[in-house]
Amino acid sequence: PKHLHWEAYNIYQWEGFWYPAAVIRGMLAFRSNYKARCDDVILASSLKTGTTWLKALCACIMDYHDDQLSSKNPHLVVKTLEYEFAGETLNPDDLSGMPSPRLFHTHLPYSALPESIKNSESKIVYITRNPSDTMVSGWHYFNKILRRNNQDPYPFEKEYNNFCAGVHSYGPFFDHVLRYWSESLKRPNKILFLKYEELKRDPKGQVKRLASFLGRPLAGEDEVDKVIWGSSFERLKNLEVNKNGELPFGNVPNSAFFRLGKVGDWENYFTAEMKQGLDEITRMKLEGSGLDFES
Ligand code: A3P
Repeated sequence: PKHLHWEAYNIYQWEGFWYPAAVIRGMLAFRSNYKARCDDVILASSLKTGTTWLKALCACIMDYHDDQLSSKNPHLVVKTLEYEFAGETLNPDDLSGMPSPRLFHTHLPYSALPESIKNSESKIVYITRNPSDTMVSGWHYFNKILRRNNQDPYPFEKEYNNFCAGVHSYGPFFDHVLRYWSESLKRPNKILFLKYEELKRDPKGQVKRLASFLGRPLAGEDEVDKVIWGSSFERLKNLEVNKNGELPFGNVPNSAFFRLGKVGDWENYFTAEMKQGLDEITRMKLEGSGLDFES
């Protein structure tokens, strides 16, 4: 595969997307070992688009380890399958022994999913976010990891150029988003497509939509509010468990997943030319797809 050296780690191009080597190993093991069940729920996202929020939301809605969010980082409550396979922390027997419905997550693009997920009745929920905020969030996150190794911050402009060129972990961003988008249009009962900005603007409407899709319609407004609060940035960021400790995969601090949690932070980082450049790429990539972003 083509290869790019980064200051913190290397990423490799594989089947049209870029990944760290461990993720490629994890993806291959995931693909050969995972047997989907019809009632599995698989959450999917590219990096920094609201994964943590979606994991917490679904854990609350499905009452799936709900109480565990108070004592565990959302990434340990709902696990990312290719990381588990890369770290050999989940084996096929663990998976087959788990009670239904199973709730998992993946960052993999649609094309890289195991066939049994694509071809079964299992459900997929995808979350995306406007590319400018996604890029800024990724830069901060990446720098937190660099700081742990006492490395200098990665230059913002370099990260911006990598993002625009699609050369970033699980990138190109637009290829990732557009394929899940087109699949969600073809199979609306199989794939629900969510946007971070819509969840921020209309949490009640979006939470009800998500709960109905999961076959767990919420009983009333109180239930809806409970889910919104239970998965909120304000609550999760301030829990002891998320202020301290780190995730086993990549030694990422738990706190790295809770930075600002707002729409529009790109304004504090982008020059006018940068915004114009990424908006132009976005316009060209999304043209004719019916998909748009609020930023
Ligand atoms: P910012 O860096 O802009 O603050 P992911 O979970 O896909 O890694 O994305 C992380 C981004 O989602 C970060 O964005 C983080 O602050 C934000 N986030 C994490 N938990 C959230 C929540 N419960 N509600 C809203 N945003 C959240």
